[in-house]
Amino acid sequence: MKFAILSRNSQLYSTRRLVEAARGRGHSVRVLDPLRCYMRIACDGFGMHYKGRPVSGYDAVLPRIGASVTRYGTAVLRQFELMGSFSPNPSDAILRARDKLRAHQLLAAQGIGLPATVFGDNPDDTADLLSMLGPPPHVIKLTEGTQGAGVMLTEKLSASRSVVEALRGLYANFVVQEFIGEAQGADLRCFVVGDRVVACMRRQAPEGDFRSNLHRGGSAEVAEASAEEAATAVRAAQGLGLEIAGVDLIASQRGPLVLEVNSTPGLEGIEQATGRGIAEAIIDHIAGRVISRQ
Ligand SMILES: Nc1ncnc2c1ncn2[C@@H]1O[C@H](COP(=O)(O)OP(=O)(O)OP(=O)(O)O)[C@@H](O)[C@H]1O
Ligand SMILES: [Mg+2]
Repeated sequence: MKFAILSRNSQLYSTRRLVEAARGRGHSVRVLDPLRCYMRIACDGFGMHYKGRPVSGYDAVLPRIGASVTRYGTAVLRQFELMGSFSPNPSDAILRARDKLRAHQLLAAQGIGLPATVFGDNPDDTADLLSMLGPPPHVIKLTEGTQGAGVMLTEKLSASRSVVEALRGLYANFVVQEFIGEAQGADLRCFVVGDRVVACMRRQAPEGDFRSNLHRGGSAEVAEASAEEAATAVRAAQGLGLEIAGVDLIASQRGPLVLEVNSTPGLEGIEQATGRGIAEAIIDHIAGRVISRQ
């Protein structure tokens, strides 16, 4: 089969492993920088060029599109879809997952558990907005934040209010959530490929923090998802239309809750923690899907 990987950097661990896995399975594979793809859109057909030459005929395109190039990257991916290539994570599904408010609304509408979340626009509404959530502690999250850097815990209502006011003053986008204390600083990264969780790791916050991000000093160890956790992770990925996703869950008294669905999950941490060939699982899944489409 003929594969393309849309990635800005062929040296990244995840990109290298996917190339290796595809070649190992006898496929041809090429890494294309999405920002060097340019396209012609017309009713008589769709064209794509890459660094001066036409590109076409890919059976599957695997997007590894970073958050900073979401708009252009998904336009390139959509062009490949229109040219007949299969993508396990379609452009529309990536856009759904990247917009956190939209993703929360879609998941909740499908009955998938999430920490209760509120957001609003006008500062005059802050007090009532917080009352819609219930009493503190609250977790306040910048919607553009990542790796735990924009996630704050407030224990008193006055603190929630002043953090919300400060963020509004900075024109930041954020949501406020109920704090899931039972999780005790742990979350579960479930790596979903198709309709199963192929690998899973538990991340634990360092002493004195509630955020389990590895960049915040958290630690990771291999874990097994319970049947309920695996089902929740798969439903969340499928609920957004993703066949490959990293779904972060936290344990609560009312069952597993989804924190995030990542459409471009990194392979390095999870392959190292679990010793499993996630890249091979991804390539085999895509090849199976391409065959079933033919
Ligand atoms: N509502 C919550 N209750 C308890 N702990 C939480 C809650 N939300 C987040 N956490 C903890 O904080 C960590 C960071 O939060 P989150 O994953 O939402 O943000 P992020 O990692 O900065 O962004 P993202 O994962 O969306 O790129 C989580 O891994 C989890 O350990
Ligand atoms: Mg996270």
